[in-house]
Amino acid sequence: MTVGLRMVGGMGGNITSCMPDTSRANPRRAAITGVATYVPDRVVANAELARTLDTSDEWIITRTGIRERRIGAPGETTSTMGAEAVRRLMAARNLGPRDVDVLVVATVTPDMLFPATACLIQDRLGLENVWGFDLSAACSGFLYALTTGAQFVASGAHRRVVVVGADLMSAIIDPLDRTTAVLFGDGAGAVLLEEAEPGYGILDFVHRVDGSGASDLMMPAGGSLKPATTGTVAAREHYLKQNGRTVFKFAVSQMAGSVERLLERHALRATDLAAVIPHQANQRILDATADRLGLPRERMASVIARFGNTTAATLPLALDDVVRGGKLKRGDLVVFVAVGAGFTIGSTLVRWS
Ligand SMILES: CC(C)(COP(=O)(O)OP(=O)(O)OC[C@H]1O[C@@H](n2cnc3c(N)ncnc32)[C@H](O)[C@@H]1OP(=O)(O)O)[C@@H](O)C(=O)NCCC(=O)NCCS
Repeated sequence: MTVGLRMVGGMGGNITSCMPDTSRANPRRAAITGVATYVPDRVVANAELARTLDTSDEWIITRTGIRERRIGAPGETTSTMGAEAVRRLMAARNLGPRDVDVLVVATVTPDMLFPATACLIQDRLGLENVWGFDLSAACSGFLYALTTGAQFVASGAHRRVVVVGADLMSAIIDPLDRTTAVLFGDGAGAVLLEEAEPGYGILDFVHRVDGSGASDLMMPAGGSLKPATTGTVAAREHYLKQNGRTVFKFAVSQMAGSVERLLERHALRATDLAAVIPHQANQRILDATADRLGLPRERMASVIARFGNTTAATLPLALDDVVRGGKLKRGDLVVFVAVGAGFTIGSTLVRWS
């Protein structure tokens, strides 16, 4: 099977990156041909959090840009949110239960460690002809899932791939920890990938991981390292832990650096981009990244004020907002970029069709 990619190594450090093999006369590529989202109904504004935590609406807005977030109702899970996003996507594109070939679900909050959320979504929607799996790359999860899903289309193995980013962050956020409880929210998004017209679609990507940052953003217990015990529960180790300042500095430098490398490969400048769709962790990270790139801030998509950080769902939520706002036209160049726990880093260049 020809995948249509070549690995580019030897770029220094632990950097590994990939790019489409442009030496092929007519490389097949994947295009994003639909996007849909779902967020829970319940809106939790900053003021509500300030009733139980030592924080304030003013601190949260100033330091993060977040005004409110959505929190799932009892019974809502990552698979129910993801399934609703996929159901909306399929309805919008008139797809039946036999029309989806692959389902890739990015999440760090699967309903259970196994079976995969992809299986639960398949069953809920009665998809008859699909295989799939979950992908764990935290806030870069959707980006990595997009790259992974695109290979099935580029190789010719499959016609329609659905990529989902879904996270019920409220399941792993410590409600007593003001340094993280104000940042995250719940949500889901899904995109459809199909073969692109020549010259359009997902053109290139730069991804790398740096595991030296593993302890700066993680959930200590519940895995094979520290299985659940009464002790891990008492120590609140089943909640997300973050070294916010370190992650902030890393995110600012790496988001801009990743986009710069991608643009350099194509002799592009940031101003050639109609939009950058970034992971939504902090408005200050988005502004600093735009400034470093020389990108007008209004071209940096932002929905963080309404949804907070929804981990794997931020990119499709931001893309959906940009598409609905009519800000993308055929032929526009768009970059997706994310930094997340791991650390995981990545950017992807798309010519919108
Ligand atoms: C978490 C984050 C918003 C904190 O903002 P910050 O400006 O870096 O704030 P600091 O961590 O330096 O803390 C400043 C002070 O505010 C306090 N503080 C933290 N959270 C607070 C809150 N919700 N309300 C009020 N005060 C708060 C801190 O305790 C600290 O107090 P101190 O100076 O007395 O110790 C910011 O670091 C961030 O966004 N980090 C990256 C997050 C991220 O990207 N995560 C996901 C990656 S995928």
